[in-house]
Amino acid sequence: MRAGVVPVEFKRFPDGESYIRFDGTVEGADVAIVQTTSPPQDESLIQLFLMADNAKDLKARTVTAVIPYLAYARQDKRFRPGEAFSIKTVMKLLGACGVDRIITVNSHNPSILKAFAIPVEDLSAIPLLAEHFRGQGFKGAFSLSLGKKALDVVVQANDVLQGGYGYVSTRRDRVTGEVAIEAKPLPIKDNDVIIFDDIISSGGTMVKAVEWAKEQRARRVYAACVHPLLIGDAQQRILEGGADGIVSTDCVPSPVSVVSVAQLIADALAR
Ligand code: R5P
Repeated sequence: MRAGVVPVEFKRFPDGESYIRFDGTVEGADVAIVQTTSPPQDESLIQLFLMADNAKDLKARTVTAVIPYLAYARQDKRFRPGEAFSIKTVMKLLGACGVDRIITVNSHNPSILKAFAIPVEDLSAIPLLAEHFRGQGFKGAFSLSLGKKALDVVVQANDVLQGGYGYVSTRRDRVTGEVAIEAKPLPIKDNDVIIFDDIISSGGTMVKAVEWAKEQRARRVYAACVHPLLIGDAQQRILEGGADGIVSTDCVPSPVSVVSVAQLIADALAR
């Protein structure tokens, strides 16, 4: 099968509205739109809606939305009465714009995505992150996840690093946003520790986890994530908290996005 590329022209009107135009034809084609929805999330989403709907209007046969970072995935229920169930709205809009299939990477809660009408394939970039560390001499490092629910993440990392794995629980106050760590002792004293998380946003969760690992006298502590939103001074706070480094994928562009997911996505599209 031959794949072609249709460049997309973007501009923002003086009033802030988005404009898109395909510089080529999509008629009769199986179209993959690659659009991460990192900040500014709302603009990235609107661009994606415009592209998907435009592709269908212009007679694309199918539209696959490749969304390495899926915004709003963390608002995966109504945590407090009256709140919007935001990811449900986003999924509805993608469906209404003609998206037939979605590919994401380590979306926050892939199981909730399966509850909506559009088929979703959630890829994992954790083995790629772990391979990066192994390549840097971290074979044997302990893989730590944030929350028991994310244990599958460190099982994948441990397949590569083979230094053991475990989790610490985190609890966020839904009103203040403050994060607290609840952890049982783990065998990390004098060991290198890699803390894996899907997202680093404000950095509040990662800072607490790094500080905890340092208190347990871990040797070197690294923060690894798939989606480095790194809002404000998050990067600096994590390093000041004691991390020896931060490594992420390029699902979201940032100064620490050194692990490419391009091949992972290309292989999924080829399937
Ligand atoms: C939480 O469930 C996620 O896995 C991340 O730990 C969280 O979203 C990170 O947010 P922040 O960096 O703002 O603490």
